[in-house]
Amino acid sequence: MTDPAILVTGGAGYIGSHAVLALLAARRTVIVADDLSTGAREAVPPRAAFHQGDIADAAFVGSVLADHQVGAVMHFAGSLSVAESVADPSKYYRNNTCASLSLARACIEAGVDHFIFSSSAAVYGTPERSPVAEDSPTRPVSPYGASKAMTETMLTDLARAHPAFRPVCLRYFNVAGADPAGRSGQRGEEQVHLIPLGIETALGLHRELLIFGDDYPTRDGTCERDYIHVSDLAEAHVAALGYLEAGGQGAIMNCGYGRGYTVLEVIAAMEAVFGRELPKRRVGRRPGDAVSAVSDVSLLKATLDWTPRHESLETIIRTALAWHASLAGAPGPGVGSSAGSG
Ligand code: UFG
Repeated sequence: MTDPAILVTGGAGYIGSHAVLALLAARRTVIVADDLSTGAREAVPPRAAFHQGDIADAAFVGSVLADHQVGAVMHFAGSLSVAESVADPSKYYRNNTCASLSLARACIEAGVDHFIFSSSAAVYGTPERSPVAEDSPTRPVSPYGASKAMTETMLTDLARAHPAFRPVCLRYFNVAGADPAGRSGQRGEEQVHLIPLGIETALGLHRELLIFGDDYPTRDGTCERDYIHVSDLAEAHVAALGYLEAGGQGAIMNCGYGRGYTVLEVIAAMEAVFGRELPKRRVGRRPGDAVSAVSDVSLLKATLDWTPRHESLETIIRTALAWHASLAGAPGPGVGSSAGSG
């Protein structure tokens, strides 16, 4: 009998495609379901089966589950822009909350008990303390964060009513970097995050990088974040799968490295990789930014068999730079030494 397959929703997207690579490396059978609204078909390796469709469409999900022997679901599909969620909340409650409910119900009906959900540090809103642990209050400040927090609550309640169903919710901190072998990375749409914007500035796609606020109560006045390499995050999903398969119970876990870098420290690290200064300008605070968001990773480390391999900020930046330069079709600064690093 063949091993049960892992259904990866959103497997054509940024984090999902890295999880597919990690699962294939772990010799797992992978099925991707993605509507390609933001994902790219070419991000899915040929060794993974592919089904195009909407996770909120119960008939589509039912047919995928009926066609394959699925042992676990990794649920990445969803919408992910904080700013867009403020302008269009119904899109977020539909794509993130309602679609997740529909998927979870289909899993329970089909007897698929292992469920790993992409949650976010956005559920904490502005954390009261940092590092922030999982038992801190969840007070999301955006519909995006609320849509993730609501899904966590739903999954926890479903697990209480259906004890065989065991969801693990992973709360991602700041995900960055790209596959060190250059097979995947962040694609397409307009970048809003610090590291991709810094890289695009280095590649000449923007005139300057803006520094949002330098009067925060931190060591240099700029906000502090916990940056995790996307391939290490993908490995954490494989580890969470192993944990569930070994009989682990449903859980909610932070996913970061437990260390913080300020905006100025990230910019300095990018400049060291690029070998030159970035054009940059200090401007006012960006509304909604938390002063500090660093994860307490005690639970993650105690629960999962997970060893991060790409922890250095330099590796995160180098791999992202190599990926963005390959998309732009340009060698870019510092790329020569970047491919295959980490
Ligand atoms: N920043 C700048 N200039 C930029 C872009 C960002 O100074 O051009 C600063 C931000 O103000 C912030 C820090 O860099 O202080 C990090 O900002 P990002 O936009 O890269 O990331 P966020 O911390 O805002 O977002 C992350 C995740 C979201 C999640 C959010 C809340 O990417 O999905 O954390 O936890 F919702």
